[in-house]
Amino acid sequence: MSFPTHRPRRLRRSEALRDLVRETRLTASGLIYPMFVCPGIKVRQEVSSMPGIHQQSADQIVEEAREVESLGIPGIILFGLPESKDPRGASSLSAQGVVQRATEAIRKAKLKLLVITDVCLCEYTDHGHCGVIENGEVANDATLSILAQQALSHARAGADVVAPSDMMDGRVGAIREVLDEHKFENIAILSYAAKYSSGFYGPFREAAQSTPQFGDRRSYQMDPANAREALKEVELDLEEGADMVLVKPAMPYLDVIRRVRDAFDVPVGAYNVSGEYAMVKAAAQKGWLDEKRVVLEILMGIQRAGADIILTYHAKDAARWLKP
Ligand code: PBG
Repeated sequence: MSFPTHRPRRLRRSEALRDLVRETRLTASGLIYPMFVCPGIKVRQEVSSMPGIHQQSADQIVEEAREVESLGIPGIILFGLPESKDPRGASSLSAQGVVQRATEAIRKAKLKLLVITDVCLCEYTDHGHCGVIENGEVANDATLSILAQQALSHARAGADVVAPSDMMDGRVGAIREVLDEHKFENIAILSYAAKYSSGFYGPFREAAQSTPQFGDRRSYQMDPANAREALKEVELDLEEGADMVLVKPAMPYLDVIRRVRDAFDVPVGAYNVSGEYAMVKAAAQKGWLDEKRVVLEILMGIQRAGADIILTYHAKDAARWLKP
């Protein structure tokens, strides 16, 4: 059974036919928009390597969050740029912290938008690592209670979902336990389960001022060469109580997204990270790529690979382009 009986081009003849047989339907309903919150009022500073993305104070976050909601995007994820940094990331736990205040402000504004908070230490430590340092190393177990307290403070401020991105072993369990102890058993955990040690985080580190001051993150983030290990990471996080899992970055790890999707029956997300965004923006500015076309193709590809949820800085543009 082959040509000329079979002619796949028959189903590509018109937009109506192509639409009828389309396998993947990209919509704004799976997108999450990342935002960077800083201290102050009326602050809105563009990140130079991420055109269109800003560091902004809580009042400005509320305004943009309103726009995000009106575009049909279901949620945002908040990253904090604190007033002060220290070796243990103390400013990450404060009820007056930047993320906590922005979360409260969004809640007060009565938006329906989901507020997801990134749980990690790197933005809050003076050394820029995702955990505390003991004997020159990033100490796993000593970091867990700080992460759990940070997640608790986000829940108290009104976060719907907490998203640990630090890659310490056991942090999902530690966070679940503390949330449950304080009657936040309904706050969900989106775990960055398979987070790779990636060069694509470069622009984020400018945006979040979180570049490690010594060494790198290879002792806790995953080796880009490993895919089977991602399944183990996901399995452990699910056992510890993660409700949803993330693969990060997205484009170089589509195989990992697919394998996680096939192996586990939980919502799977992918983080289309800062460097992936910056590449597209830079090429589009030079006129080398058609931005709309490649962004929708990239997001479609990530969804086709198996992601139900996509965290992306393109979310607002994509939502506009996808409007029926
Ligand atoms: C760590 C964290 C990072 C990102 C999200 N959370 C960066 C890192 O590990 O250095 C990167 C996101 C992006 O590049 O868009 N808290």
